[in-house]
Amino acid sequence: MKLKIALLAGDGIGPEISREGVKVMTAVCRRFGHEVEFVSALVGAAAIDAVGDPFPEETYNVCRDADAVLFSAVGDPRFDNRPDLKVRPEQGLLAMRKKLGLFANIRPVATFASLIHKSPLREDIVSGADFVCIRELTGGMYFGEKYESDDHAYDTCAYTRGEIERILKVAFDYARRRKRHLTVVDKANVLASSRLWRKVAQEMSRETPDITTDFMYVDNASMRMIQDPRFFDVMVTENTFGDILTDEGSVISGSMGLLPSASIGEGTPVFEPIHGSWPEAAGKNIANPLAQILSVAMLFEHFGLAEEGECVRKAVDASMEAGVSTPDIAPDPSKAVGTDAVGTWISDFIAAER
Ligand code: IPM
Ligand code: MN
Repeated sequence: MKLKIALLAGDGIGPEISREGVKVMTAVCRRFGHEVEFVSALVGAAAIDAVGDPFPEETYNVCRDADAVLFSAVGDPRFDNRPDLKVRPEQGLLAMRKKLGLFANIRPVATFASLIHKSPLREDIVSGADFVCIRELTGGMYFGEKYESDDHAYDTCAYTRGEIERILKVAFDYARRRKRHLTVVDKANVLASSRLWRKVAQEMSRETPDITTDFMYVDNASMRMIQDPRFFDVMVTENTFGDILTDEGSVISGSMGLLPSASIGEGTPVFEPIHGSWPEAAGKNIANPLAQILSVAMLFEHFGLAEEGECVRKAVDASMEAGVSTPDIAPDPSKAVGTDAVGTWISDFIAAER
């Protein structure tokens, strides 16, 4: 296969983890005989600094013409606590999702045997937890009508039936490939948009008897997720709830630096860590590259290259078992290694497996 990858490294630790993603992807392509070409483009604060726009037209064109986007992170403290600023790095990520029509964000939450002790939750609670959160990505409050003045502001949470149906379809299909248990998370006891979600989901679940569908309010779901994470198989929810719940989910795995995601829909699919740009760590070679590297696994799997994906996952597991890890997950923090060393170890492991 020939793959053209748009590389959007962005800000903070973005460029460092991006390099490790490229290393690993190159190693897998070499081993399996695929051709890969990387084209870099600006996004986030890096793009604001260069051309004044967090998602320039040129970047859009690079993404549109690629088979997939490997995205890293956006965000810069220079733009935080500055409500006066109209242009922000995060708008680059949102514009990319919207312009590429990426309405479904797939966020798997799994535990790694060698890391169970890293979770602040008890081992008997988290061990074996393995679920997927399907987050709606181009609707809700993120994109609804907004108003801002000095004494009044609002964000609107709006969804059409069509937007709800298409994300639920992704969720039902996903559940069918897993344990056939779908939990629809909403706040239908308060929000009108949630009531529409629930109505549409109830209708669709009647047409989908092979999937066990249940409904849970988001406040209850956030509690259930850390009390009894094994309850969940596939959960589906609107944009803002999904953003919040998946940060909570990362606690189950033991580190924010471990969770990858795939954003899919109409245009070029994007593979990205769920974490942000961690500006304090930028340039220090301490950021965990595994969320980015596991995003590469999801990229291969998206193109039906299951063996390639598995090869990445196996190498990631091996690195953790060997204790070749960044400080956030290293069994002995005094023996932690750098971001680049983790990527190099994993790509060498992949090359040696040949
Ligand atoms: C995420 C991030 C983004 C979001 C931010 C950076 C805009 O937190 O991908 O979860 O809120 O969607
Ligand atoms: Mn988030």
